[in-house]
Amino acid sequence: MAKVPTLSLIIIILFLAISHPTNSQQFSTKVFKRPERLINLRFYLRESIRGDAPSALVVAQAPTTPTYRYNFGRLVVFDDPLTEGPNLSSRAVGRAQGMYVYADVDDVAQLMVYNYYFTEGRYNGSTLNVMGRDTPLLAVREMSVLGGTGRLRGARGFVRIVEISDDVERGVIVDEHDVNIYLYTRSI
Ligand SMILES: *[C@@H]1O[C@H](CO)[C@@H](O)[C@H](O)[C@H]1NC(C)=O
Ligand SMILES: *[C@@H]1O[C@H](CO)[C@@H](O)[C@H](O)[C@H]1NC(C)=O
Repeated sequence: MAKVPTLSLIIIILFLAISHPTNSQQFSTKVFKRPERLINLRFYLRESIRGDAPSALVVAQAPTTPTYRYNFGRLVVFDDPLTEGPNLSSRAVGRAQGMYVYADVDDVAQLMVYNYYFTEGRYNGSTLNVMGRDTPLLAVREMSVLGGTGRLRGARGFVRIVEISDDVERGVIVDEHDVNIYLYTRSI
């Protein structure tokens, strides 16, 4: 007998919970079901830190940065060319433009914030916006793609970076960038 009031109470609470959203809706909300695509982009990045026209510059650091073993506090700005293949003479597809700061006291690790800006093909003029922790001494690293613009608007996913070569004498690093993003088909 004691169960009957409990049951009707549950029914009343359920009724209130279901009816509440329609009563309180005061602004327009629309839900669109759109199919998602997984897109893979692969290209190569070349960063030169020395020579006549370096693509990466140290722009700031703390007076005490040299006392740290791993450049803690150093800020670097870069505008690195992206090419179709690992060779310098390979077709240009865009740039990686942004900055990184050495943000780890005990390791070589950087906070990276940059854009891929594409200048060729289907994604000419579009960007992808990347952020993450980079550990350049590791052969493979991963960072997040947080967004995109143009034909890549609303993209999200990740980039896997694999070192191809590191010419310490000339100060030239080449990395393969393997970008995997989800994109809605009607994002334009
Ligand atoms: C890069 O391109 C140059 C000029 O086209 C060519 O001589 C060289 O063999 C290429 N290197 C590789 C590793 O493909
Ligand atoms: C990319 O877009 C720019 C600006 O619209 C245009 O000037 C350029 O010719 C385009 N490049 C290619 C390869 O389509």
